[in-house]
Amino acid sequence: MSVHNENLRRVTTHRLLEMKKRGEKISMLTAYDFTMGTIVDNAGVDVILVGDSASNVMCGNTTTLPITLDQMIFMAKSVVRGVKRALVVIDMPFGTYQGNSKEALASAIRIMKETHGDCLKLEGGEEIIESVKRILTAGIPVMGHLGLMPQSINKYGSYTVRAQEEAEAEKLIRDAHLLEDAGCFAIVLEKIPAKLAERVASELTIPVIGIGAGGGVDGQVLVLHDMIGLTQDFSPRFLRRYANLQEIMNGAIQNYVDDVKSGDFPNDSEQY
Ligand code: KIV
Repeated sequence: MSVHNENLRRVTTHRLLEMKKRGEKISMLTAYDFTMGTIVDNAGVDVILVGDSASNVMCGNTTTLPITLDQMIFMAKSVVRGVKRALVVIDMPFGTYQGNSKEALASAIRIMKETHGDCLKLEGGEEIIESVKRILTAGIPVMGHLGLMPQSINKYGSYTVRAQEEAEAEKLIRDAHLLEDAGCFAIVLEKIPAKLAERVASELTIPVIGIGAGGGVDGQVLVLHDMIGLTQDFSPRFLRRYANLQEIMNGAIQNYVDDVKSGDFPNDSEQY
């Protein structure tokens, strides 16, 4: 599906709020480079996330922790060049906003100046609220991220469903309100019980985007490489695969190798 003309208007944080009010679901996918950013934007996705999942998907790390500010800026710049309609959100990488709100603001300003992206996403609630508030004072829109927060994987010890116990669920609800009250324009909820996510979405006025958080929220986000089957070793219950591009690429590359070996490629019309 390509974008219809009436939908060519740029997506803004304000438009996402309107969508929530109208009950129109928000679609969000990751992209880490110019080509993928262009494809995802042309297909009509509302929000493109330059996620720090690039640490796993693009760099081959086992966690999101090692990716650097420079690497995120490099990728975000490339994505932004390819996007005409979607709102581009950029993840602040681990170590650039926790603990020191002045450093958080400096990192945020660097990302916005160098990438020309639209807004930033930070993981956490109460613990990082000073950083969130300080970034907002500079007029930079912030998306929150609660539930499973991959930058805290060393604290959790595993990627299992979060907030199943009452105490953690209550803290998540408090954090969600704290982020909304601070001025965040939206929140991502990752891998939590669907009922809890639905409750948060109904209590907040800002959009709640889920990943592994059920259908009772205001929108959905997936990692592009997972949903088009470029990655194969990650199969959580919440992931729906819409294509198997790894199989298609394998076939194409094997055919190319065969054609080169046999001398079939290039043929007479493929040379000068
Ligand atoms: O980095 C990422 O891709 C994310 C999504 C999983 C929401 O934060």
